[in-house]
Amino acid sequence: MKGIILAGGKGTRLYPMTKAVSKQLLPIYDKPLVYYPISVLLLAGIKDILIISTPADIGDYKDLLGDGSKLGVNFQYKIQDKPRGLADAFIVGEEFIGDDNVCLVLGDNVFYGQDLTKILNESKRQIDEVGGAMVFGYPVKDATAFGVVEFDKDNNVISIEEKPEKPKSNFAVPGLYFYDNNVIEIAKNVKPSARGEIEITSVNNAYLEASRLKVALMKRGMAWLDTGSPEGMLKAAEFVEAVQARQGFYIACLEEIVWRRGFIDDDQLRAIGEELSMTEYGKYLLSLL
Ligand code: G1P
Repeated sequence: MKGIILAGGKGTRLYPMTKAVSKQLLPIYDKPLVYYPISVLLLAGIKDILIISTPADIGDYKDLLGDGSKLGVNFQYKIQDKPRGLADAFIVGEEFIGDDNVCLVLGDNVFYGQDLTKILNESKRQIDEVGGAMVFGYPVKDATAFGVVEFDKDNNVISIEEKPEKPKSNFAVPGLYFYDNNVIEIAKNVKPSARGEIEITSVNNAYLEASRLKVALMKRGMAWLDTGSPEGMLKAAEFVEAVQARQGFYIACLEEIVWRRGFIDDDQLRAIGEELSMTEYGKYLLSLL
């Protein structure tokens, strides 16, 4: 399975913070926001990762992440010249995806929880074995800013609505999606929405109509944090700081994940740790050895 991180957009809702810097490069406490969705792909064991961003920002992602060889993975890059919608990721990424299945994580989505690795591995296995699509439902107080799952009285999913004024449930669909290879053709056939974008929600509804969509509900123990406002970013940073300070384990530490998974060995981890040894982050890496 391949992985895609979509880190496009102008971030206008966060101006002036994002006027000169891509939103997904802003920090959440001690690391760039994009580390968090990348950690999700790595926890799923996905090593081939495409980063999609704007012509203005793609160079910054290359500077930050390089070709991935230091982490024992493969990072590739593609430009999305215009913000045509989330589903455009599969058109921009067509060549990269090839004949594989694909997991898309939005570059500003932060997930954390004990069950996360299990959920990721099960979703990946499910798509690799039976195909179709797998998305999630996450309970939120206000679902109006998201894709929202509608259930019938027997709890079957009957539709997903994008940013409804009156949500039919409080289950929002987070920016983490697993698809079989058909997603490329489906994305190509999606009609632009009223805001002129090809919506990921339309892709999910196409799978639903073909009875090929599974919606798994995420439970209370899972954190899916909002980074859509300055307040959300601050709260996400506080969450990360609190957990890291209390337990001593880092959240979304890419080097730790790839080392634990055996993508890099002790010497490679030590080399990265020594380069960063003036920071708490570097000291943490060295303390793992
Ligand atoms: C997008 C999707 C929406 C999803 C959300 C998750 O919205 O369109 O369905 O629930 O991401 O973060 P956006 O944040 O781009 O407005």
